Amino acid sequence: MATASAPGKIILVGEHAVVYGRPAIAAPVWEVMATATITDRMLGTGCLLVAHDIGLQQPLATLPDSQPLAAVTRLTLAQLGLPPNPDWQIELRSTIPIASGLGSGAALSAALVRAIFAQAGRETIPAQVSELVYESERFYHGTPSGIDNTVIAYGQPVWFVKGEAPVALTPKCSLTLLIADSGIVAPTKEAVGDVRRGWQTDPARYETCFDAIAAITHEARQAIEVGDVAQLGCLFDANQVLLAQLGVSSPPLERLIHGARAAGALGAKLSGGGRGGNVIALVEPERAEPVRQALLAVGAKQVIRTRLPGAYDD
Ligand code: PMV
Repeated sequence: MATASAPGKIILVGEHAVVYGRPAIAAPVWEVMATATITDRMLGTGCLLVAHDIGLQQPLATLPDSQPLAAVTRLTLAQLGLPPNPDWQIELRSTIPIASGLGSGAALSAALVRAIFAQAGRETIPAQVSELVYESERFYHGTPSGIDNTVIAYGQPVWFVKGEAPVALTPKCSLTLLIADSGIVAPTKEAVGDVRRGWQTDPARYETCFDAIAAITHEARQAIEVGDVAQLGCLFDANQVLLAQLGVSSPPLERLIHGARAAGALGAKLSGGGRGGNVIALVEPERAEPVRQALLAVGAKQVIRTRLPGAYDD
């Protein structure tokens, strides 16, 4: 038997622009998690894939490659030189809200890859997990930048540029964030597609916007590394203005963002594909509770509090 898990994730700054080669910063969210457990089945019965949260209980052999979990299972088995249909039950569970920008799909795939490696008695390295998950992510996103699989596979805050090795970031001081779910399901693929159409129609305007987001992302890295939490909050707000200009914000997201700021957040923005999904608010720990209450009062369906540890934490 083998068990493995993987965290959810948030994008702190740089989403959408990251698809166009600009940097972004993302962080794992360990308060929510996907877990994969593999147990042996009777000889000759083949592989059964069970994913409780999406109502999947089906033999691997009957699932098409367009099913991302089946695809990542096959890719991993092939990479390890294992038979394509081992006598295993693979059971997946997740506490990560689905389709809300917290990387639920990538986390399920990452947990699955790690569990298959463990079952085969093999060690995993983050780059390998990331690459296998990326393959399955393509079914969710169309043209993913690769940021989701990277941050989830590395399990620590990362500076990410498409096609480059990620750089692990350690905040100087710990960061407290509230993640507020708008309850609106908005496929990332659609928001990414709309931005692409806008960019094709008016490349100059979009490139200027992406460059401005990149400048904010560079400043955010510095703020994180020197521990300037107030400055990071201002950069969240500046990034949000540009995301709204790209057309990926929405009235419900703006309500959550303004509610958080009015209750004392240092800054707030959408995180991920936008339109729906989640908003993140950076807070001083002592303001976390009033901001959480304010977010619920303006329509958040759920608020997760997370903390990115700082370099000098115990
Ligand atoms: O919706 P999410 O959290 O999976 O994030 C998508 C991030 C984008 O930059 C919009 C797309 C991408 O592939 O990077």
